[in-house]
Amino acid sequence: MDFKEKYDFYLKEFERILACFCNDIDCRPDVLKDSLKYSLLLGGKRIRPVLMFAVADLLGLERCKLSNFALALELIHTYSLIHDDLPEMDNDDFRRGKPSNHKVFGVGNAVLAGDGLLNTAYSLLLKECRNGMEYISAAQFICDCAGIYGMIAGQSADLLYEHATSFNENTLDFIYENKTGKLLTAPVVVPAILSGGRCYSELKNFGKDLGLLFQIIDDILDVEGSFGELGKSTGKDKIEEKYTSVGLYGLDGAKLRADVLAQRCRTVLEGVDGDSEFLLQLVDFVRSRKN
Ligand code: IPE
Ligand code: IPE
Ligand code: MG
Ligand code: MG
Ligand code: MG
Repeated sequence: MDFKEKYDFYLKEFERILACFCNDIDCRPDVLKDSLKYSLLLGGKRIRPVLMFAVADLLGLERCKLSNFALALELIHTYSLIHDDLPEMDNDDFRRGKPSNHKVFGVGNAVLAGDGLLNTAYSLLLKECRNGMEYISAAQFICDCAGIYGMIAGQSADLLYEHATSFNENTLDFIYENKTGKLLTAPVVVPAILSGGRCYSELKNFGKDLGLLFQIIDDILDVEGSFGELGKSTGKDKIEEKYTSVGLYGLDGAKLRADVLAQRCRTVLEGVDGDSEFLLQLVDFVRSRKN
């Protein structure tokens, strides 16, 4: 299988899990059910579940053990996007090629859809805790990545540093490692935890660098990308005066930084035992992505 076929293979495996989950949602009132499903089923790259499955294969872990972890993580990611788009956050009207959740259901319902996804993710993780100590550690890892020492901290700093007039690398790294890096570290570390800690620190470093790379490319695409490819508005970071890698390094500097991070990701992977070919190609995919 070439890279694209393998990506699609993992993607379809996840889409099946997600479709079953969505079919079973029967909460009331309808607006709650509809708003949850709306954002979950809009698509998206599903890179976090794909990464989780790919790392499971690298470590020789059965992927079916990860279904609820992958689902919980995508639910948390989707909730983070719904809240990120709210008028008081990034004020984005489009997501995944369609109007943002709050543009369709209103701000109040969008807040609740995000809350609902987060709570449901925790419920899925708690269910996994019955399977033993390693599952508890893996669930705990995802919670920490999503919470006040993770994504929420990054989003809080992202808001705090809006309109900043001077930039420094430490602050930018703090924002990026947390708002984006943590939810990309979780999918590579969870399989390591469930494999008894195999390659834990290498994979943690890999996830951190991949997360930084992922966000820097997101910044570059906000300048150079198109709505058609991205499915979200462009030029928004400048309008909202965001603290970004393009602001700190300039566009060419951000691309150079992305190259350095991509190389760092490859170097870490080369030190991991097993067939890391797909993950190496995934690094190139993230570096050259257009959406
Ligand atoms: C967008 O994440 C938010 C960032 C962390 C930059 P993705 O680019 O993974 O969004 P989807 O899931 O593919 O829509
Ligand atoms: C979003 O970063 C990170 C999270 C949602 C946690 P951005 O605000 O740059 O993502 P986009 O550009 O809206 O997708
Ligand atoms: Mg944001
Ligand atoms: Mg945003
Ligand atoms: Mg962005």
